[in-house]
Amino acid sequence: MTTQHSKKRTWAEPYKIKSVELLRMTTLKERHKAIRDAGYNTFLTRSRDVYIDLLTDSGTSAMSDRQWAGMMQGDEAYSGSENFYHLENVVREYYGYKYLVPTHQGRAAENLMSKILIKAGDFVPGNMYFTTTRLHQELAGGSFVDVIIDEAHDPESLNPFKGNVDIGKLDRLVQEVGAERIPYISLEGNVNMAGGQPFSMANLSQLRTYCLDKNIPIMLDATRTMENAWFIKERETGYKEKSVREILREICDLTDGCTMSAKKDALVNIGGFFACNDEELFRQAQNLVVVYEGLHTYGGLAGRDMEAMALGIREAATDEHQAARIGQVRYLGEKLDRAGIPIVKPIGSHAIFIDVKRFLPHIDQDAYPAQALAAELYIESGIRTMERGNVSAGRDPATGNNRRPSLELVRLTIPRRVYTQAHMDVVVEAVVDVYERRESIRGLKMVFEPEYLRFFQARFEPLSPTPPLT
Ligand code: F0G
Repeated sequence: MTTQHSKKRTWAEPYKIKSVELLRMTTLKERHKAIRDAGYNTFLTRSRDVYIDLLTDSGTSAMSDRQWAGMMQGDEAYSGSENFYHLENVVREYYGYKYLVPTHQGRAAENLMSKILIKAGDFVPGNMYFTTTRLHQELAGGSFVDVIIDEAHDPESLNPFKGNVDIGKLDRLVQEVGAERIPYISLEGNVNMAGGQPFSMANLSQLRTYCLDKNIPIMLDATRTMENAWFIKERETGYKEKSVREILREICDLTDGCTMSAKKDALVNIGGFFACNDEELFRQAQNLVVVYEGLHTYGGLAGRDMEAMALGIREAATDEHQAARIGQVRYLGEKLDRAGIPIVKPIGSHAIFIDVKRFLPHIDQDAYPAQALAAELYIESGIRTMERGNVSAGRDPATGNNRRPSLELVRLTIPRRVYTQAHMDVVVEAVVDVYERRESIRGLKMVFEPEYLRFFQARFEPLSPTPPLT
């Protein structure tokens, strides 16, 4: 924000709209049927039945005219595509890692990294779990260990850096199992499951010192690290004058490599990568990618997808973009907060998380209150959101019981550059309407449970008969 007026004026989108997609509004009766057909799981509803889609910010961004123009410059050669070299240069320039292996999305990069680095019986500490990340660690024979600060599990804590690693917790793990059984620490920017909460540069620097001493690499989940950089700029002493781009680079320079879902920060509909500085690790990833994704110069992507990603990184790593992106999320969060809706605070970067333990205190966690609330919001308004609680957390492999996480949340995720403030106003009205009749909402029972990442495909039924349609 270097314009003359930036200090006096509010944020506004640093773009104007050239093409639009029409929305479809359904009737209450249609929505009752749609959610019942979907087994009360918003993931199983059809997008044509959705009015405002806040399911995810993943792959749902609006691309710019430049990105679309870049798509026409796709070099669809099987090997050595020009777009790969463009992307490689951009990743080197913005993230600073020497070596790049493209993948079709983030979890594919997680698969490669977990398979290469984790041995059976290893422990992988992380600043809170992410669903796919932890699953790949477990499939590779490792166990995830949560080393995020306690405040991250408290939706009411106002700590500005709830994504920070508790180095004491990490040290206890190192003492207990030995550094040689910890292949790396997994560090996520703007921790998704905690509500989109950043780590601070001070915390990362301390972590770096600790890890260098113990010889433990730091592998970044770079998915929303540009958004983390914005919070460092806003909140951390000494960073006001630095740009998002500079801060991003400073973060990456304190780490050894990353996995990336480019479907978030990087403003593309599909794409991801693994990047690192170690040549041997790179060689292994380059070799393994051909097994699961495709040749190492396309990794499951078309040339045009890599071009859009390279251009998206450049557009996203700007202060103007992040100010508007995070400004819009904050606008929604502050309005909900003023209306008395319990939400996770501080407001994160990519979504507003409703604190369902306070919204529906009468529903036990094993009756999946966040799942029930997401279904109810859909019925009320056609707005599609996502459960991030007991269903997403899955079962403890040791006991087979639901994990019953401390955070039982519904996520209202804002796609980048897609909706307007007026859409946000409608969302607030819908949430408030549901809040006013919250006591009538009942829990759910799970009637189908898939083995992996159950939240995507699980099916539910209401615990008591649904009220007649009005
Ligand atoms: N890491 C984080 C922090 C994520 O949020 C995601 C995806 C991934 C890794 C996996 O990347 O989807 O490209 O394979 N998050 C999406 C979400 C699905 O809605 O939060 P992917």
